[in-house]
Amino acid sequence: MPAQVIVGAQWGDEGKGRVADWLAAKADMVARYAGGDNAGHTVRVGDDTFKLHLVPSGVLHTGVRCVMGGGMVINPIKLVGEIKGLAERGVDVSPQRITLAETAQIITPAHVALDGADEAQRGSSAIGTTKRGIGPAYTDKAARTGIRAGAMRDPDMFVRRVSERISQSNELLSKIYNAPTVDPLASADELHAAAEFLTPYLGDASLMLYEALKAGKQVLCEGAQGTLLDLDHGIYPYVTSSTATVGGALTGLGIGPRYIDKVIGVAKAFSTRVGGGPFPTELLDATGDRLRGTGANPWDEYGTTTGRPRRCGWLDTVVLRYAARINGLTDLVITKLDILSGLDELKIADSYTRSGTTVRESPTEVDALEGCQPDYQTLSGWSEPIMDVRKLADLPAQARAYVQRIEELTAVPVTLITVGPARDQTVVP
Ligand code: GDP
Ligand code: IMO
Ligand code: MG
Repeated sequence: MPAQVIVGAQWGDEGKGRVADWLAAKADMVARYAGGDNAGHTVRVGDDTFKLHLVPSGVLHTGVRCVMGGGMVINPIKLVGEIKGLAERGVDVSPQRITLAETAQIITPAHVALDGADEAQRGSSAIGTTKRGIGPAYTDKAARTGIRAGAMRDPDMFVRRVSERISQSNELLSKIYNAPTVDPLASADELHAAAEFLTPYLGDASLMLYEALKAGKQVLCEGAQGTLLDLDHGIYPYVTSSTATVGGALTGLGIGPRYIDKVIGVAKAFSTRVGGGPFPTELLDATGDRLRGTGANPWDEYGTTTGRPRRCGWLDTVVLRYAARINGLTDLVITKLDILSGLDELKIADSYTRSGTTVRESPTEVDALEGCQPDYQTLSGWSEPIMDVRKLADLPAQARAYVQRIEELTAVPVTLITVGPARDQTVVP
């Protein structure tokens, strides 16, 4: 069976983009299945760093076909900017290589305004969204008032429909949120140009994938966000509005489950999250600052999309076991192991304690999770830098023990370890 699915096993930013880039070397197609430009996937090729928001991370391998699935929400102006930016850097982004599902939903300027207004109204309980209009666009999809990407085939009609929809959203902005409205025609020219530019990219993504899978081609399904941000299985309401877990690959791409032979969970060697919501192993101390980094290195923990400092903490295997269960993980990839070099001791949460009771399975309710204190296992750290290590045997014994403990606690084999952001900074156990 030729399809593999990559999912984030934590709260996003686990390094899915670089793992997709690594696995794309052996793939024929890479297909993004959920989310929009709230995602920021960093891929480093040689000295070049690419930050991809909508275009799949396989794009940097010539010969790989890229698909943006119907489960995605697309800001057309942002997508044009991203495609043109890649073209300027010499990447082949012709419509022969990239397909946008005609069933993907469009993000309008009003969705972006609504996202901001909704966050402002939530005040101290704000979700901490990326303010890219993701929630409002998926809301319109579910309410059946959204506009699909296929509408761009008639740019005049598309612009008319978007401005009508903006006028309707303005009612919400002014009457419910008491917020400034959006001029329905302000982006008309840009949207018209974007529709003309993107029309050659439109296609039936599901059919294209089906034909590829039937022909035995290798398809890599690239997830965005992470399991704990999934609309259904994350810690609601501190979630995104899409299916970030494995089911999203099926619905977001329109493929059947029998084609999937691997579900690869990507997890950082520690935990991070951006935005609000409970985070049991969060460290609000010098160790948390150490894990985050000062921002001096490109891989330090500052959001790819928003630049916000990420909240940092110890690895949480209650979360990883939950991700393994929800997604049926067959493999784990551990990224950023190099960041742990130099820490005397390392902690891994294996359970929580709530009101004197041990909790081994991740609660799904905010209140229940907020009352949980992590129970830690302590492991010895290692001092050596490991960014140049390429073989498991060359990792310090403590680093190998750390990875082995993750395997024991999650019961999922670790099939790739990364020790730096570059393509070759990987260790295959
Ligand atoms: P994604 O959203 O899951 O694709 O992850 P992001 O790209 O948002 O965040 C991951 C960050 O870590 C990026 O800056 C990557 O370049 C960087 N990164 C990925 N793997 C490694 C690694 O093994 N070591 C280090 N130091 N950085 C890494
Ligand atoms: P990648 O694909 C990390 C978070 C936001 C916020 C919540 C809802 O790069 O891993 P949204 O804008 O989606 O309505 O925000 O989800 N979030 C992410 N956090 N990585 C991401 O994507 C994220 N996409 C959304 O910070 O807490
Ligand atoms: Mg990211």
